[in-house]
Amino acid sequence: MGALIELRDIVKEFQTGAGPFRALDGVSLTVEEGELMAIVGPSGSGKSTLMNVIGCLDGATSGNYVFDGEDISSLDEPQLARLRNMEIGFVFQQFNLLPRLSARVNVALPLIYAGLGREERLRKAGEMLERVGLAGKEDSRPSQLSGGQQQRVAIARALANSPRLILADEPTGALDTKTGADVMQLFHDLNEKQGVTVIIVTHDPRVAIATRRVLRILDGRVAYDGPPTPEMKAAAQQEGARV
Ligand SMILES: Nc1ncnc2c1ncn2[C@@H]1O[C@H](COP(=O)(O)OP(=O)(O)OP(=O)(O)O)[C@@H](O)[C@H]1O
Ligand SMILES: [Mg+2]
Repeated sequence: MGALIELRDIVKEFQTGAGPFRALDGVSLTVEEGELMAIVGPSGSGKSTLMNVIGCLDGATSGNYVFDGEDISSLDEPQLARLRNMEIGFVFQQFNLLPRLSARVNVALPLIYAGLGREERLRKAGEMLERVGLAGKEDSRPSQLSGGQQQRVAIARALANSPRLILADEPTGALDTKTGADVMQLFHDLNEKQGVTVIIVTHDPRVAIATRRVLRILDGRVAYDGPPTPEMKAAAQQEGARV
């Protein structure tokens, strides 16, 4: 069986007033199905840009991307939309929930792409909310939920279509330490118990060292790819002592 994600020599340039800016500068990366990986690196190093390419939200300027054996460049926009909606679940730092809709309806939205009827969508959304520990909160709007609960709704939404891959960009960035740890536990459970491939961008060394694989991005390049280093573990300990 092949890898889930294969990036070869990915370059991403943005056009700016000062000319083209190279945010990704030859990234090669293979991720097997079932991996749990952290992406770290300084602000502006290209982490979100890389996530956007992996999630097919943004195309690369050059290079090769094969997802689940399929060359992404051969797909048209409807095929890409289908891939994003059915195979990939996105979780962002700011939750991105629709404020006027209940938790249940927020989670049910992506199920429209799966072609389910309304009742079936709402039933499945309820199941997803239960899975992330939010039974009883189905009818609450985002503003009536805590940050951690809102992030759980966002995770339930990301899981609704049973994606193969979860892409989470700073999912604990807006959460306090304890709530962030709970959300991380949820990702670990999904990975271990259901085999979902999970990629998490994080500034928190404690989140990074809890994974088996850490990718460090510097100036748009892969500076390190491997298990947590002793330096990363020391940084995590310091972070733990600080809070
Ligand atoms: N649409 C864009 N147009 C021009 N430049 C961009 C665009 N998006 C990102 N960049 C630039 O690309 C670089 C990488 O940005 P990116 O958002 O990937 O960084 P990051 O590693 O996610 O940072 P952070 O940790 O602050 O979220 C930055 O220098 C940024 O200014
Ligand atoms: Mg970012």
